[in-house]
Amino acid sequence: MTESIALIYSTTDGHTLKICQRMQTCIAAAGKHSVLIPIAQARVGGLADFDTLVIGANIRYGHHAADVGEFIRANAELLASRPSAFFSVNLVARKSNKNQPETNPYARRFLRQLPWRPRLAAVFAGKLDYPSYRPLDRWIIRIIMLITGGPTDPCTVIEYTDWRQVEDFADAICRL
Ligand SMILES: Cc1cc2nc3c(=O)[nH]c(=O)nc-3n(C[C@H](O)[C@H](O)[C@H](O)COP(=O)(O)O)c2cc1C
Repeated sequence: MTESIALIYSTTDGHTLKICQRMQTCIAAAGKHSVLIPIAQARVGGLADFDTLVIGANIRYGHHAADVGEFIRANAELLASRPSAFFSVNLVARKSNKNQPETNPYARRFLRQLPWRPRLAAVFAGKLDYPSYRPLDRWIIRIIMLITGGPTDPCTVIEYTDWRQVEDFADAICRL
């Protein structure tokens, strides 16, 4: 029987889902089956049939959504019982010195405060999409970008994601 991988994701604007979809393509190319599951629909007790569990989550104003940590705590036993992986998606990770689980402040803090020790962890740079933001968010992100040396033109749309890094991560998940 084909091994199956659950890709459980938390997204606001859809980029974390897009990353999961790219991973799904790589996983299929490796001959394995994966299922995309929004974290809100990942029921406690509903995941026991999967061989491998992957959780991916976006950052908004310094934090992953509260239900990501809650889900991990509620499923601690299950997550410890089989191979698992975690990835975080944020814009700080566009900087090469902040794109690893050990060097990215959000991923580091998040993993440190949880009982879960995923076998694999990664941090992917996300998407900057000023035109799609609400006015207040656009202003705040522009100020953050000004401070951190990023683009401030409100027309800017950039995917900072290193898709090769995503594909390598998906390949590594297949080998877990
Ligand atoms: C309102 C808002 C707040 C954000 N806050 C942060 C942040 O604090 N740190 C960061 O690195 N990126 C931040 N980002 C960037 C997102 O993490 C990035 O755009 C990511 O690709 C979003 O993923 P999603 O499309 O799956 O929601 C923020 C984006 C928005 C729109």
